[in-house]
Amino acid sequence: MIRPILKYGDAVLHNAAAAVDAMTPEVERLVSDMIDTMYAAPGIGLAATQVGAALRVFVVDVSIGRDPQGLIVMINPEFVERDGMQLEEEGCLSVPGFNATVVRPQRAVIRGLDRTGAERQVEGTGLLARAFQHEMDHLDGTLFVDRLRGIKRDLIVRKIKRLSRAGNW
Ligand code: NI
Repeated sequence: MIRPILKYGDAVLHNAAAAVDAMTPEVERLVSDMIDTMYAAPGIGLAATQVGAALRVFVVDVSIGRDPQGLIVMINPEFVERDGMQLEEEGCLSVPGFNATVVRPQRAVIRGLDRTGAERQVEGTGLLARAFQHEMDHLDGTLFVDRLRGIKRDLIVRKIKRLSRAGNW
């Protein structure tokens, strides 16, 4: 089931999420709905906070469904390693219409539980490492806009406020 995606300004997006303490049917349903919602958007990643669930869960598929092995579900993920640096344009389903260049690690290894509750460790480079860092940020209440500085950040925030006031956000 596709769930509505919250936008910048909604409190759930701006607060840290709590760890999942048991694989309940609700968590399984959340994961399944997050996968549907990510592919429908379409996006390459989605965090639980973006659909209003303050839990440490994200889904990523940089192939957007083209590679059957591409889907990664991570519950209670943590970084094992991070190195290097990349600078690329980035966007977010919760900040539609905006993009900015964000510094991210070139390589990231994360560890967490998959949708069956089994431990899983995945290494990502390039776009996948970027997606991991972007989604991990979501679980801490950080959006890519928060990673920007000064004028760049102010400009986006001001435009969002204007859209919001006009009822267009
Ligand atoms: Ni995002």
